[in-house]
Amino acid sequence: MTTNTERGLDTALEYLREHDERNLKQLDEFLRIPSVSADHELRPEVERAARWIADELTRIGAEHAQIHETSGHPIVTADWLHAGADKPTVLIYCHYDVQPTDPLDEWIRPPFEPRYEDGRVYARGSGDDKGQLFMHLKAAEAWLQGAGRAPVNLRFFFEGDEEVGSEPIEQFITARPELLAADICLVSDTDMYDDEGTPAITYGLRGIAYFEVKVHGPFQDVHSGQYGGGVDNPANVLVKMLASLQDDKGRVTVPGFYDDVRELTDAERTAYAELPFDERAWRDSIGVAESGDGEHGFTLLERLSARPTLDVNGLWGGYSGEGSKTIIPAWAAAKVSTRLVPDQDFQKIERLFVEHFRRIAPPTVKVDVKVIHGGAPALTDLDSTAVRLGAQALEGAFGKPPLFQRMGGSIPVVAALEKQTGLKSLLIGFASPNGNFHAPNEWMPMANYRGGMDALVRLWQEFGSASRDELRAD
Ligand code: BES
Ligand code: ZN
Repeated sequence: MTTNTERGLDTALEYLREHDERNLKQLDEFLRIPSVSADHELRPEVERAARWIADELTRIGAEHAQIHETSGHPIVTADWLHAGADKPTVLIYCHYDVQPTDPLDEWIRPPFEPRYEDGRVYARGSGDDKGQLFMHLKAAEAWLQGAGRAPVNLRFFFEGDEEVGSEPIEQFITARPELLAADICLVSDTDMYDDEGTPAITYGLRGIAYFEVKVHGPFQDVHSGQYGGGVDNPANVLVKMLASLQDDKGRVTVPGFYDDVRELTDAERTAYAELPFDERAWRDSIGVAESGDGEHGFTLLERLSARPTLDVNGLWGGYSGEGSKTIIPAWAAAKVSTRLVPDQDFQKIERLFVEHFRRIAPPTVKVDVKVIHGGAPALTDLDSTAVRLGAQALEGAFGKPPLFQRMGGSIPVVAALEKQTGLKSLLIGFASPNGNFHAPNEWMPMANYRGGMDALVRLWQEFGSASRDELRAD
């Protein structure tokens, strides 16, 4: 016997297929909005993206679409709560802000003019994360408009500051918990396992602590012939200080940095070792044939997501124009970030780093250290009903079961929601692991986009078959 919800599922999936062309046009429109959160001149565009989403939420049948002003960019919320009080409520989280587009001249087409080629859509935000947010809108529409109702209650929670550290999110969670009340949060801001259609459930994220450091020397630039050898060069000093932050075993030298790092268990190391991973292909995909980088004693996959790291993200100062200019610069600066793992506390790491960086500065220079942002790491339980149902939905859509992965990136909302409200997250994303996140020519495979919407439609059906308690349980 076919039940109502099974008929609903078929109708919703059919609705997606029927609206494929129109959806693509809308995706194109959404990707054209340059919602770069790091660029204050683009603030009106970030706001336009928020409005676009709120309008679309209302159009697809969600209710109470609201744009909330924050200390940063707007947060968009909405809901559809008519599945029944006994049915689970799912909070859907994605972010609509994107990373800056530089270096612009490396894009084959401008970043906000989507290019469709080789079964991919190329655009800033296509994978991270506007494309995935859009997929959620369309999966919800397929249920609400196609089937007339959804099997679960839905709440939407879309952020515009994720790429700059999610600063306003904690305050929002504290101030408006009623808008986020749910049994489970579904976060779609990660990738699939490979480009062969293997889906993934992500069970770990790294945290982050991000700094800007500046070393000051003479009060203005001076002639390097006249003064060289006589004053400490702030650029020389800065690079020495930065270089000293890691030892020759690839370990971070900030005292206390590793104190709270949770070591991998044997079972976890076995799980890592069993994941299919072609290191050669991985290296080829970024054009770096060999590497001596990273912490000794750990496999590449372990280092990429289960171990903390420290990286210089940018370095500037002095003369970088055409030809040469012989100066000792007045100052030099760098952006430095550390990726953190459970149970490192990002606020403690911020303190340790600031103290250490000040301490290692020679007396010949003055050092400023600014904390830019921080976020906590997260690990989720794999042995849960939500994971089991997620795996079923993914297998239904992609024809193969998901692999379970920890990611090296950060999504601050996951730990913040759990800490502040106890709400657990399930992380299912559809971008490509090779899709140039944060880089020129970001892309999303069309197959993942279509398969992902199919999976989300199935996921609501699966969740609708579970009780609220089952979904909430560890
Ligand atoms: N989508 C990424 C997180 C991610 C990265 C997932 C790689 C899977 C693979 C997210 O948008 C992101 O980039 N987050 C920032 C957060 C930071 C600014 C606090 C990150 O990890 O750099
Ligand atoms: Zn990102």
